[in-house]
Amino acid sequence: MRSVGIIGTGAYLPERRLTNSDLEKMVDTSDEWITSRTGIKERRIAAEDEASSDLAVKAAKQAMENAGITADQVDLIIVATVTPDMSFPATACLVQEQIGAPKAATFDLSAACTGFIYGISTAAQFIATGTYQHALVIGVECLSRIVDWTDRNTCVLFGDGAGAAVLGPVKEGYGFQSFELGGDGSGKDLLKVAAGGSRLPASENTVANSLHTLYMNGREVFKFAVRVMTSASDVALEKANLSFEDIDLFVPHQANLRIIDAAMKRYGLPDEKVVVNLDRYGNMSSASIPVALHEAIEEGRVSDGDTLVLCGFGGGLTWGATVLNWGGAIK
Ligand code: UT7
Repeated sequence: MRSVGIIGTGAYLPERRLTNSDLEKMVDTSDEWITSRTGIKERRIAAEDEASSDLAVKAAKQAMENAGITADQVDLIIVATVTPDMSFPATACLVQEQIGAPKAATFDLSAACTGFIYGISTAAQFIATGTYQHALVIGVECLSRIVDWTDRNTCVLFGDGAGAAVLGPVKEGYGFQSFELGGDGSGKDLLKVAAGGSRLPASENTVANSLHTLYMNGREVFKFAVRVMTSASDVALEKANLSFEDIDLFVPHQANLRIIDAAMKRYGLPDEKVVVNLDRYGNMSSASIPVALHEAIEEGRVSDGDTLVLCGFGGGLTWGATVLNWGGAIK
């Protein structure tokens, strides 16, 4: 098996900012409540004529440029999203056409906020076996399109954005050291969009009952998130024969600062070893981790040989973590 790593990243955030004070005018909430309960100050909202594929294409182009590859070198495109442009065809096909990657296999992956971790784990297998050379994995969401803007419990939490990574073979010892993925369908009702699929197809009734918008039992998901953030990371570290003391940079899913704080406390991690961007973007589901990783790289917070832990959790329920030894790209 070949060693596989991330050899380039990219991100795209829509221009429009929605601040907590904007939300105060829309629902019964306050900047104080949102900041103290979540850490979020503002989030980005896609323009009316922007859909997930548009955001994804911009992030993908930047990731390819940073990886030093062209679109015709991409063998596989995986788009992790719960807000595809449409039910089908896959958003990955729309991205493929836009970037011009004629030989790429294309599919979407549905693992909610864990989607990017599931996506890189999947793509890495194809590269490790030598089946493919380069894969583009994109986490993208236009959550503003599925949020109920009259529900203060959820509308203050989410934002739109895209993050992308190019995976390729790396020098031995570098790259992904382990993956830990999990799912628990008994939590299927804690976080969902109930209608629009084969169980409850769109009807006047489903629209009238707001069944096409996101529902979340925040308290239960919170408890689950605090638990799995470290349990999944612990298993990934153990599989890599490492411990939390070896972490140089922790890149967690950006759902709530209190969830991240709980993990930092448990591991005794200082601020400089943890990436937080939810204050600026809110929860972007599958886009949160790749955008956070990209920004950390841009800010010079990642060096050759660093041990990174990426950890996500979300609807399904699903969770996943990976240990990544940064660098080692083969030029
Ligand atoms: O990415 C997928 C994974 N998602 C997550 O990890 C999210 C996990 N959950 C959370 O982050 C938190 O549970 C929330 C931020 C969603 C909620 O925070 P909480 O501290 O668990 O609040 P709560 O749900 O227990 O609600 C406390 C109170 C309630 O009022 P009552 O019933 O106690 O009178 C809510 O109605 O806060 C009220 N509330 C609000 N008040 C002002 C809920 N949303 C708001 C709001 N503004 N936006």
